[in-house]
Amino acid sequence: MKLQKHHISCWRSQRKPLSWSLICGIMLFALGLISLFTGHVVSDLEYYSQRLIKPHLITKWAASIHEPINIWKSKYMDAYYGCSRRGRHFRSAIPQRFSNGYLLIATSGGLNQQRTGITDAVVVARILNATLVVPSLDHNSYWKDDSDFADIFDVDWFISSLAKDVKIVVQLYKFDYRLANDLDPELQKLRCRVNYHALRFTKPIQELGSKVVLKMREMAKRFIAVHLRFEPDMLAFSGCYYGGGEKEINELREIRKRWDTLPDLSPLEERKRGKCPLTPEEVGVMLRALGYKNDTYLYVASGEIYGGEATLQPLRELFPNFYTKEILAGEELNSLVPFSSRLAAIDYIVCDESDVFVTNNNGNMAKILAGRRRYMGHKRTIKPNAKRLSALFMSRDTMDWRTFAKKVKSAQRGFMGEPDEMKPGRGEFHEFPAACICRRRSRRPTNNTSEELDISESERWRRSNNTAITERLGSSEDDEFLPRL
Ligand SMILES: *[C@@H]1O[C@H](CO)[C@@H](O)[C@H](O)[C@H]1NC(C)=O
Ligand SMILES: *[C@@H]1O[C@H](CO)[C@@H](O)[C@H](O)[C@H]1NC(C)=O
Ligand SMILES: *[C@@H]1O[C@H](CO)[C@@H](O)[C@H](O)[C@H]1NC(C)=O
Ligand SMILES: *[C@@H]1O[C@H](CO)[C@@H](O)[C@H](O)[C@H]1NC(C)=O
Ligand SMILES: *[C@@H]1O[C@H](CO)[C@@H](O)[C@H](O)[C@H]1NC(C)=O
Repeated sequence: MKLQKHHISCWRSQRKPLSWSLICGIMLFALGLISLFTGHVVSDLEYYSQRLIKPHLITKWAASIHEPINIWKSKYMDAYYGCSRRGRHFRSAIPQRFSNGYLLIATSGGLNQQRTGITDAVVVARILNATLVVPSLDHNSYWKDDSDFADIFDVDWFISSLAKDVKIVVQLYKFDYRLANDLDPELQKLRCRVNYHALRFTKPIQELGSKVVLKMREMAKRFIAVHLRFEPDMLAFSGCYYGGGEKEINELREIRKRWDTLPDLSPLEERKRGKCPLTPEEVGVMLRALGYKNDTYLYVASGEIYGGEATLQPLRELFPNFYTKEILAGEELNSLVPFSSRLAAIDYIVCDESDVFVTNNNGNMAKILAGRRRYMGHKRTIKPNAKRLSALFMSRDTMDWRTFAKKVKSAQRGFMGEPDEMKPGRGEFHEFPAACICRRRSRRPTNNTSEELDISESERWRRSNNTAITERLGSSEDDEFLPRL
């Protein structure tokens, strides 16, 4: 979902006027094209129908299909690791005095949209042999926050950890850009180095986040973090209806006017297509159906919930051990309240550390964290299969709980954060950073950090070039016996 745009600008260098204007032109053109091809709409639309599987995996799954899902941990998590080391032949950064000029960007949107923008800006600067000026965060956007880069991220760390890749200096024409999903693997790895290593929160944010995590851990050996995103803007954007009558319809319609290009949607159709975030209650019911007991500890990450406490109540009843950053951090949070991105950073940290993370939409935080958790060792990440679940919720009264739970479990196969859920190279990069995921030679966890050759899954796939072994699964509701990848 693209709510906001990033702005990028070229700063004409006095020394090299010719090359710079050329480059700026090429860049504008290329990035324009790129943003056409990134296909967010397409990838969202096709998401549920593009589940492809490799037959050699079928046998592996055939044996495990009827095995219960381990709801806390992927069985295969030890077989993979995040790999984004620089390749031996990846040349060093162009020194500032030889660079093609300066790249300035202003990112807008919420914390995680900014993160995506910054990550991509580093790669653009690298491609252009430009020196990157530490990105500025746009303050005009709907997300209310006046924070600058240095208020949220550790600038010195950002510059020093990327020194070999891109020259970055501290310190303006606008257009929209997104990087393509099929960049050179070395540049993809650079994206991972930026996003998963170089972008580190400032000390005060990191410390408060860790404190909240510690409080959860003191209470529970393991916990689930749920990113509800059941917020007014999200619901308005989705075009869905949640049974709140005229009041809801009018309120959401009013918010929907914020975007001037949204089409008229049929709420029921959107629900059937799996485009509607689950309600907090539905999230709770899904989790209980998956097998999480009522004594499980829940951390709920969210901004303003539509409908407030009343909307949350059913979820609280399903999981009485219910916590938020407000409950756990209390007064210490006060200094962050005027800064929505810094608040979001606390949720980001806790969700990242959780044993199980539940996303509830295709938003930026959900994608960024899902990708990060894959990279960091495939910790359980549950993405509600809204398309199949919504059908189930609509017919819930027609079956007993056991049948319902069984169907929920089956609907969620392939949406649990397993390593093989997506064919390498498919899906959006920030959610499926396949170029930065490597498979271990041996299944034994190794204690040596010098990982073999760091051949990523997407690279392995590319080399094997075997298009014949892909097979498309139907999206029929009855394929319960099939693994959904
Ligand atoms: C960047 O520098 C490299 C090596 O010096 C060169 O091969 C490449 O063509 C340059 N790219 C641009 C866009 O200037
Ligand atoms: C969980 O449910 C059981 C009954 O099934 C009840 O006795 C228990 O008090 C509940 N636990 C919590 C924490 O609510
Ligand atoms: C790796 O583990 C083995 C056995 O657990 C141990 O003997 C060895 O010293 C470890 N090596 C390193 C480099 O930590
Ligand atoms: C462990 O990694 C080091 C480099 O960090 C390498 O020299 C050594 O051979 C590796 N040991 C094993 C057992 O793989
Ligand atoms: C890859 O597959 C395509 C289509 O099957 C084929 O045309 C091409 O020659 C193959 N390339 C290699 C390097 O095997």
